[in-house]
Amino acid sequence: MNTPPDQYGVVGHPVSHSLSPFIHGLFARQTKQNLVYRLHDVSPDKFRSHVLEFFARGGKGLNVTVPHKLAAAELANDLSPRAERAGAVNTLALRDEHRIFGDNTDGAGLIQDLKANLKVAIANRRVLIIGAGGATRGVLAPLLQQKPKAVVIANRTAARARDLVDDFGDLGALSHCGFSELPGDAFDLIINATSAGLNSEVPAISAAVIGAGTVCYDMTYGKGSTPFVRWAQEHGCSRAEQGIGMLVEQAAESFLLWRGMRPDTAPVLAAIERQRSISAS
Ligand code: ATR
Repeated sequence: MNTPPDQYGVVGHPVSHSLSPFIHGLFARQTKQNLVYRLHDVSPDKFRSHVLEFFARGGKGLNVTVPHKLAAAELANDLSPRAERAGAVNTLALRDEHRIFGDNTDGAGLIQDLKANLKVAIANRRVLIIGAGGATRGVLAPLLQQKPKAVVIANRTAARARDLVDDFGDLGALSHCGFSELPGDAFDLIINATSAGLNSEVPAISAAVIGAGTVCYDMTYGKGSTPFVRWAQEHGCSRAEQGIGMLVEQAAESFLLWRGMRPDTAPVLAAIERQRSISAS
């Protein structure tokens, strides 16, 4: 008799737009792993019971997305050091003795996309990260490990950015400001970690932060260009990218945690780009 496939999935709210089932389906095919990966649209009040039941029924692993990443960190029995530092979990895995392990692969995904896929240098560069919510919290430690010259966190609500400097300032040259206090010169790399794009908005910052050599990166992605990517291009950046590569790379890190092997991400990224160009035409 055939062994039933191992159960995985992504839990979020809303989650119907997620590319994760497509990505993990391709990873499984590439690595010949017997697994299924499903969408779990779960409201915050049902998150805990849903996840506990999923694992009690033999589920092996879950990705966790908005708005559950903090709740997932609270639910996990054990946390990886990077999840502990971030206070947020995007990957849950069932370990021995039914203990639920929480990890955060978002930062590793961002760094892998910037360095390996996009060939963007971070070491010794001046980096601006816009936003001070969970998305920023998840990537600050891996970003600072790359030894940038300086990282400035700018947030609409400056106090939230200051809290992040308190929590991560020991890891590198980190400072914060409100949008109106941004320095008037250009950065090497600007990362948009706000959720403004979900409302078709762009953070209200001065375009003086963009110079001809500036790389702009939007951690979110959209059907076409995101509002932030369009804004960056209109103001003359050297290039502007959206976070599809980050999505695929964080997924590969989750797959590694679950299955002990890291899939080749290049063909999966190419498949997504092909689909996107078909749906755009
Ligand atoms: P996430 O987990 O996606 O980071 P979050 O914790 O709610 O979500 O944080 C959202 C971030 O996007 C915050 O930095 C928020 O700014 P505030 O702290 O001032 O609320 C930022 N944000 C959301 N909409 C924005 C907008 N229209 N302009 C600028 N910043 C925005």
